[in-house]
Order: sequence, then structure tokens, then C-alpha cells
Amino acid sequence: MSTQIFSNISLLVNTRDSTGFIRGDDLAILPSIENAYLIIEDDIIAEIGKMKDFRFSKKNQVVADNTIVLPSWCDSHTHLVFAGSREEEFIDKIKGLSYAEIAAKGGGILNSAKKLNETSEDELFNAAWKRLSEVSKLGTGAIEIKSGYGLTLEGELKMLRMIKKLKEKSSLKIKSTFLGAHTFPIEYKENHQGYIDMIINEMLPVISEEKLADYIDVFCEEGFFSAEEMTTIGNSGKKYGFKPKLHVNQLNSIGGIEAGIALDALSLDHLETLTQREIELLGKYKGASTLLPSAAFFLRMPLQPARSLINAGAAVTLASDYNPGSSPSGNMNFVISLSCIQMKMIPEEAINAATINGACAMEIEKDYGSIAPGKKANLIFSKPVPSLSYLPYSFGNNLIDKVMINGSFI
Ligand code: NIG
Ligand code: FE
Repeated sequence: MSTQIFSNISLLVNTRDSTGFIRGDDLAILPSIENAYLIIEDDIIAEIGKMKDFRFSKKNQVVADNTIVLPSWCDSHTHLVFAGSREEEFIDKIKGLSYAEIAAKGGGILNSAKKLNETSEDELFNAAWKRLSEVSKLGTGAIEIKSGYGLTLEGELKMLRMIKKLKEKSSLKIKSTFLGAHTFPIEYKENHQGYIDMIINEMLPVISEEKLADYIDVFCEEGFFSAEEMTTIGNSGKKYGFKPKLHVNQLNSIGGIEAGIALDALSLDHLETLTQREIELLGKYKGASTLLPSAAFFLRMPLQPARSLINAGAAVTLASDYNPGSSPSGNMNFVISLSCIQMKMIPEEAINAATINGACAMEIEKDYGSIAPGKKANLIFSKPVPSLSYLPYSFGNNLIDKVMINGSFI
């Protein structure tokens, strides 16, 4: 067994045992130990404590003074497998076209689907692998990845098999979500039922048979899937054991919140556009209210009403939405800064939302999302910083010294 001992850590952050979602006022409570030690055995956190109780020999220990140690980020909403990039649309947006106008021009998701179906598996895998490696160096230790750029049986299976291969080869914890209902392929634009039938009768049985997904997702939005269509697809996924994690209320409020709650979704994601009534519903809803502020930032939309959601009691969770169209960045440090700067979350709330709540939104909170004995040693070691608040405050600067995944520095 290999043992690693770290002493004199200035702050060990989020030292809670596994819990469910942290919500409402409790989000501001971030249990931490000042002047701490940490012992890792193989890939597991064995012991944590205060230096005054430290009883180990001085040799073989790493003195980590001036370092803040945090649980690695749990990014519970990404589209990290994609082909190519879409900076031409970025320019269209700068020139004034809206997300919906770009989608209507055959751009957007359909553009990525075309590229994905034309790209070889090796090329796709290598690009996704590179992105995974980049986000892990930025502190992400667990991540959800969606399909949704295939939009044909072959294309969706290609994506999901790719995610399965990433799961097998990567040391990061990965969860996989089937998002065949990301948009309607052009040939089904006037035949929604035809594509929904394909999702239900052709895609889902194979995905279940090959164990290719953990969750099911639907993009519920005007011009995409209605709340009723989402309900049909979500219920079909549930029959195979895939809990819904859903895109709702990004651009419009069209009943996705009520429908998602009725589906007993694990998470409702995006939430840029919310009515007061929907905020109240999310306050009582037991799953995650997952905010993706970098998507709103990139699309130049008002950011999500994090304060109202927290005040209502919601289980606010933060994720990157890493994708080529609305958030070409998987940097969770930026997501946290943005949440503090523009959504007025306090650093403690943002860190809970990006760690333990992210873990709960992927149902991996037993092993990830906080620093406690028995949990996986997936950790972020900061550069010398004066305080925890300095991390989101000093936005855009890389304040991570090292990242540990499964007990090894990467
Ligand atoms: O979460 N809104 C739907 N899906 C993605 C964007 C996908 C794309 O534009 O390629 C999102 O923002
Ligand atoms: Fe998304």
C-alpha cells in the first residue's frame, strides 16, 4: 500500500461526509479545516485532521503550507465529445445573429452533427481525450458527457461508444447521458413523431442492451422539443432505468420545469429564463437546479437567477456545459468566478455547487465531491493564495498548483 502524508495545509475545503444535495441557506456552509493534515492510502483519503492532532513522523511527509486543498470539481453537464469547432458562428453572433437564428440557418447543433458524422472514430476519440486531459489539469475530477451530435442511430451509438471508451481508459470518473433528443434532424423537421419513434424504438433498446448510458436528456425549447415530447421521451428512457437530466428554460419558459419535476428528473439544467412560479417550484424540487453560467455568458444572455433560486431553497449546482456552440470552455474555475462575480454567489456557495452538488447530480457523492475518509483522492492543490475567496476573485488566473486523480498527481 502506498501512503502519502500532507501536513500544514492552510485550508482543507469541504470536509463533509457524503450527504445529499446541499440547498438553500446551507449552501453557504462549507465545512473546512484550517492548518490541516491529510493522509492518502493508494487512491483513497484515509484520514484528515488538525495539525495539533498530527502524530506521524516528520519524514516522508509533504509540507503543504500556503496551500489550499479542495475536492476536484464535479462537472455534471458537458457535451465534451464533439467534432471540430464553430468559431464561424461565434463571428455570426458577434455580428448580431441570435442562437435561434443560427440554428434556423442549419448551423448550431445540426452543424456539429454533420461534422461528427463525417469524423473518424480515432479523430473524435483523440480530440475528446485531449479535452478531458485539459479539464482534468484545470481541476475537474468527475464529469458527465452527453451524446446528441449524432442524431441518427449510428451517430448516437458512435458517440455513446466513444464515451464508454473514455470511461474505460480515463482515470476521471465519467457518467454518460443519451441526448438523441438534442434537435430534430432536417429530414424529421416536419415529422417530429417519426424521430421520437426512432429514439424510442430503435435507439433506446440498443443503448440499454450495450449499457451505453446512465441518463437520458432532452433539449426542451421552442423550435426543439416541447414539454410533452420531453415527457414521452423521458418516460421511455426511465423504462430502461435511465433517469432524466434535462435541458430546460434556456431561452424560453415552455413548461419544461413542471414536466421535468413530474418526470422526477435527477437534474434540471440551464434555467436562464425562469418565472417566479418556476423558481418556487425549483425551491421544492428535490433534484439539482444546474446552472451553466458560461453558456449564458458566451451567448450574451442574462445569467441565471442564482440568488432567487438559493433563497427559494433550490439545490443549486454549477457545471460547464462544455460544447462547441454555447460554451467552448470546460474551465470550472471560470464557472465559479463567473457565478460569484455575475450571479452573486458567495465563494462557499459556488464551491459547494461545483463539488458536492455536482457529485449528487451524477449520483457519485459517496466517493466524490468532498474530502472525507473513504472517498477517492481526487483533489486540487492551490498555489499559495491568501484566502479561499481569492480563488474566484482572481478570475482568469491559474491558481492550481497540482491536481490529484485517484491518489496520483497528473
Ligand atoms: O447546452 N442547448 C442545447 N445544447 C447545448 C448547445 C449545443 C450546441 O450549440 O452545440 C447547450 O447549450
Ligand atoms: Fe448542454
